Amino acid sequence: MSVESRVKIVTTHVLYEMKLRGEKISMLTAYDFSMARIIDGAGIDIVLVGDSASNVMAGHESTLPITLEQMIYHAQSVVRAVKRALVVVDLPFGSYQGNSKEALSSSIRIMKETGAHAVKMEGGEEIKESVLRILSAGIPVMGHLGLTPQAIYKFGTYEVRARDKKEADKLISDAFVLEKAGCFAIVLEKIPANLAAKVTESLKIPIIGIGAGKDADGQVLVLHDMLGITQEFSPRFLRRYHNLYQEIKGAVQNYIRDIKTLDFPGKKEQY
Ligand code: KIV
Repeated sequence: MSVESRVKIVTTHVLYEMKLRGEKISMLTAYDFSMARIIDGAGIDIVLVGDSASNVMAGHESTLPITLEQMIYHAQSVVRAVKRALVVVDLPFGSYQGNSKEALSSSIRIMKETGAHAVKMEGGEEIKESVLRILSAGIPVMGHLGLTPQAIYKFGTYEVRARDKKEADKLISDAFVLEKAGCFAIVLEKIPANLAAKVTESLKIPIIGIGAGKDADGQVLVLHDMLGITQEFSPRFLRRYHNLYQEIKGAVQNYIRDIKTLDFPGKKEQY
């Protein structure tokens, strides 16, 4: 039996079992083949083709400009690399907010054209009809509550969400709506840790946190942030595991130096 065929692939059911036995779920973003291959090989449970590609890949200020076509391109590259993880793709801004039929047709395009395993969308009660319609086509849906970056111009800031009782109550009720509608998991972004703990304890489906404390069933970070490729973004919840910006810059500076000083290519590096 080859190594590949012995790898136990991650499904939505596997994630549910992980929650039941208290095993934490790991999730990272990826937008291209090379990075997806590395993080899948490292054993990540979920790869999110996030619309944060709009920021870290395309250099936009928000996630709003990225299109469905661009998300499909990123997802196709990621899916080609992944052998074990569950691949989830963000429905971009403007591809589902209009109506549930549009939400379904965007989701079908993602599933058909990329080979990904699930879609993710932001919102609670207001997207319930879309969640139900997408699920009726057999497409798994991950929810996203708290700081939802596609609504950044409504919030006006990237501050912690749901600190006050009214917003916290709405978040809890939205989480129940999403679970009842059939979402297989929910991302909670930038909310107080005790609120995330309460939602995690109350719901049967896995809760994945980003800036939501240690009690969530799993954690997600943007790959470019945790590797230190992005420099300007430094929220309190971010742990950097590397300083790749400096590492890559240093390597490129050495390459330039070697060319200018006629050190590269050397005798052994030519034909
Ligand atoms: O797009 C993204 O990267 C996300 C994560 C921050 C959860 O939605």
